[in-house]
Amino acid sequence: MCGSGTTKAAADKCGIQCRLYDLHSGFDIMNSEIKERPEFIFWHPPYWDIIKYSDIMYNASGVQNRYGYDPRKLDLSRIPNWEQFVEAMNYAMMKQFASLEKGGRMAVLMGDIKKCGKLYSMLAEIIKPGTLENIIIKAQHNCFSDNTQYSGSFIPILHEYVMIVRKDTPLLVPVIVAKKIKADIRDMAGTTWRDVVAAVLEECTEAVTLTYLYEQIEPHKKAQNNKHWREKIRQTLQINPNHFHHTDRGMWVLKRKEA
Ligand SMILES: C[S@@+](CC[C@H](N)C(=O)[O-])C[C@H]1O[C@@H](n2cnc3c(N)ncnc32)[C@H](O)[C@@H]1O
Repeated sequence: MCGSGTTKAAADKCGIQCRLYDLHSGFDIMNSEIKERPEFIFWHPPYWDIIKYSDIMYNASGVQNRYGYDPRKLDLSRIPNWEQFVEAMNYAMMKQFASLEKGGRMAVLMGDIKKCGKLYSMLAEIIKPGTLENIIIKAQHNCFSDNTQYSGSFIPILHEYVMIVRKDTPLLVPVIVAKKIKADIRDMAGTTWRDVVAAVLEECTEAVTLTYLYEQIEPHKKAQNNKHWREKIRQTLQINPNHFHHTDRGMWVLKRKEA
């Protein structure tokens, strides 16, 4: 994904031979074959859709005429949602890593994206095969957002990362994969009875009975791991007056902070 060719300029400066590939010049990472078994790959994928490439940075119809495909359909920066982008990024990562010779390295320059109060982190979600050798933090220069004035509480992203992985073993490769799951606090190790009772009450808009609390907690590991779980719930409510408030007999609410 050589774009305008910064990688080549850097390689030339160091006297290193290199080959450049990009969607704009006939190579699609998802479908084209990697012909070499390289000792080093420098990969600079799009930062999701922060900058769109096909038909903006270059003319899509020119590529269509020359190579016979519409780059807008294959461009990683035009993938509409984050999950699909991560899937494509990780496919491309493994495809390139697999092509390396033993002892070879892959450097990936990537950045995180912030949208509507949420961080979409390429570094957190990229698959990390092989030996993780380095994560270098690099100041981000010449961004489109440099001239944007942000309101007080917004922390702009001023850095990007270069992750370096090494292929020490060709066949059986250690891999770090980010996995998104929905975890229920009532089943998780490390939670206290106070956390569990508070979490159940937090979902309630009015006072609830002890029976309701029992029903909400009984099927879960927190209760299954303690044969005195009912007593624990009652004790938790009694010893935490800062958090739990007793209304009528047997009815409980969470004390909420004043807005
Ligand atoms: C972050 S830019 C690379 C910038 C480059 N380092 C430079 O100096 O201009 C990402 C590049 O990925 C390319 N790209 C997007 N989807 C691709 C795909 N499916 N296969 C190959 N290249 C792709 C884009 O055309 C774009 O040039």
